[in-house]
Amino acid sequence: MADPTETTSVPDLSIDLAGIAMRNPLMTASGTSGYGPEYAHLVDLHRLGAFVTKAVSPEPRKGNPPERVVETPSGMLNAIGLANVGLERFVEEKVPFLESIGCPVIVNVIGHSHEDFCNVCARLDPIDCIAGLELNVSCPNVADGLDFATDARRLEELVHTVRPEVTRSTLIVKLTPNVTDIAETAHGAIAGGADALSVINTLQAMAINVDTWKPRLANRTGGLSGPAIRPVAVYMVNHVYTAAAREANVPIIGMGGIATWRDAVEFLLAGATAVAVGTALFIDPRSPLHVCDGLADYLTKRGLSSVRELIGRLG
Ligand SMILES: Cc1cc2nc3c(=O)[nH]c(=O)nc-3n(C[C@H](O)[C@H](O)[C@H](O)COP(=O)(O)O)c2cc1C
Repeated sequence: MADPTETTSVPDLSIDLAGIAMRNPLMTASGTSGYGPEYAHLVDLHRLGAFVTKAVSPEPRKGNPPERVVETPSGMLNAIGLANVGLERFVEEKVPFLESIGCPVIVNVIGHSHEDFCNVCARLDPIDCIAGLELNVSCPNVADGLDFATDARRLEELVHTVRPEVTRSTLIVKLTPNVTDIAETAHGAIAGGADALSVINTLQAMAINVDTWKPRLANRTGGLSGPAIRPVAVYMVNHVYTAAAREANVPIIGMGGIATWRDAVEFLLAGATAVAVGTALFIDPRSPLHVCDGLADYLTKRGLSSVRELIGRLG
């Protein structure tokens, strides 16, 4: 007869992200796998903990002119400019597919004003298949973008205004690393009523063509992502966790250069409850599934029964 005190050989990967029940902590990072159909033929979406869409704004956006993406050492620089189909086409054309994917859906939301964010959230919150709304408050690559995320008070006001529109789904606020102290904006988001935080968005950066003496991106500057930013992201997750989120019991979605299970473990130990994979999808679209399998093996080898035992356990 099996010893009931023995640690089960299949570790429990499930987590609760402020009300979103996820079968594992692996998510996609916004903007790196479209609205789902672009990615679904490469990966079984139902094996993910959650799928995060690219940004949705009130009106359609064409985004920036090319070049919009350049490769950098251990990273990638993008200035897509939040190109998207806009709210109404998203609801009509993209939601029916998202209803069928078999994992929680989180929609990334952008806007230029309180009213924009409120209108998009009010329209999306009642839709059953949408489990979370992630406010992208830091539009680093859009010339006309208001940057709510660099000022803690403005961020708190924005989240406070949007909060009443989000009654059914989980309200997530995505923080920018382009600040002096990310704990201050984390405090602002939490004070405004955020249920969860995404940490981090891309780092503002630039690459220059030495033949033409011009920026390599048409937008001049862009957002840096990929393994190059991972240590920055791990630090910021840990800082937000210890200075603001742990005490408030607000879970963190950690992201920034995650490509392997080791990277994911770093983020979990630093204080993340879930982890998102973005730039690594362009190299291996199945990487979140490999990370998930590696995480399960790691837990088994260490005799741990649940992934939750790793969260915030940095010594
Ligand atoms: C091509 C590209 C497009 C992105 N688009 C969005 C977006 O629409 N909304 C958003 O909040 N973040 C966007 N991001 C940021 C990512 O979601 C993520 O926060 C960042 O890239 C760090 O993770 P990574 O290093 O795993 O890519 C984008 C990143 C890339 C590379």
